[in-house]
Amino acid sequence: MVLSEKQEALVKESWELMKQDVPRHSFRLFTLIMERAPRAKDLFSFLRDTDEIPENNPQLRAHAAKIFKLTCESVVQLREKGEVAVGDTTLKWLGSVHLQKGVLEPHFEVVKEALLKTIQEAAGEKWSEEMKNAWGEGYDHLAAAIVREMQVQA
Ligand code: HEM
Repeated sequence: MVLSEKQEALVKESWELMKQDVPRHSFRLFTLIMERAPRAKDLFSFLRDTDEIPENNPQLRAHAAKIFKLTCESVVQLREKGEVAVGDTTLKWLGSVHLQKGVLEPHFEVVKEALLKTIQEAAGEKWSEEMKNAWGEGYDHLAAAIVREMQVQA
């Protein structure tokens, strides 16, 4: 799918909106991930020993914020270059972290659904099919790059 200039603008706009309350959206993202894949809980060091998702955990927030930001950046890169261009070192690091933690390819689909729902709720009436497809496309390319790197390192 080729992303339009308007779609890039929609993604940037919604990310700006989300930046106003990253803790809330991060908590929501993790709540949705855990609803969809309860067993994924034990993958995360900060969730392993608790029954509740912590509302103010810096690691949880860092993970969610990275997903939001890198997906947004991937949309921009896709528009500008036709491909995601996460730096080589970052990509290697992302591949190695997820491989070591035991993350599997299907987990990426769970996170995608949770991400789109989180953005939908954050965007409210600004949400649209165009916005959804743009975030989805950016995420798919980013996730595929991480999974490829995991496979290379496995
Ligand atoms: C760690 C990004 C998808 C599970 C990390 C870290 C980053 C990151 C940057 C390192 C955090 C740090 O050490 O500072 C991303 C991005 C994703 C993605 C950009 C999607 C595009 C996923 C998925 C799962 C997952 C699908 C599995 C449900 C984990 C786990 C850790 C981690 C378990 C280690 C956290 C810990 O225990 O401290 N991720 N991630 N990630 N990620 Fe992801």
